[in-house]
Amino acid sequence: MNNKEYRSRIRRTVISEKELHEAIARAGAEIDAEYEGKPLLLVSILKGAFVFLADLSRAVSIPCEIGFMQAKSYFEGTTSSGKVNITLDLTQDISRYHVIIVEDIIDTGRTLKLVAAELQKRNPLSLKILTLLDKPSHRVVDLKADKSLFTIPDTFVIGYGLDCAEYYRNLPYIAEYDER
Ligand code: IMP
Ligand code: MG
Repeated sequence: MNNKEYRSRIRRTVISEKELHEAIARAGAEIDAEYEGKPLLLVSILKGAFVFLADLSRAVSIPCEIGFMQAKSYFEGTTSSGKVNITLDLTQDISRYHVIIVEDIIDTGRTLKLVAAELQKRNPLSLKILTLLDKPSHRVVDLKADKSLFTIPDTFVIGYGLDCAEYYRNLPYIAEYDER
């Protein structure tokens, strides 16, 4: 894609860098207060959540560990039952940790529901889901994040880790993508 085409698809800013920074600073302070003195593991599901995790982890000031997972899920048509294949797994034994799944966006919720069920089977001390963005109008499974920093309408967004065909993950803010 050439640079002119690339730029022209960024329709408008949905969440600015300043708004992201402020919300993440507050979320970090809440994690500090809730998990002080507890073994904490922040788990990011690649690739979309890598930018959020990088900033969130630096807004947390208590000791914590970081882990990465990648998962591919398979569903029959648009049904909500499916199988998840963990293509990159954690190195930690999570039964020794309080775990927070740090997600970029919950859309249908299908993949995250399967990943959360898989992690729950491993008996963590506790398991919570923190998502940067939530599109509740698109949900097809019963899944609610324990905390969501921004609720957005049903539009396709890019930036801050979120991609369109692998581009725009490095955009420092969240923008609406012009699908034309
Ligand atoms: P779902 O909740 O299982 O439908 O899938 C969520 C995943 O779909 C996210 O982790 C993103 O990778 C992707 N996704 C959903 N909505 C958007 C969007 O608006 N922009 C970019 N990626 C999205
Ligand atoms: Mg994702």
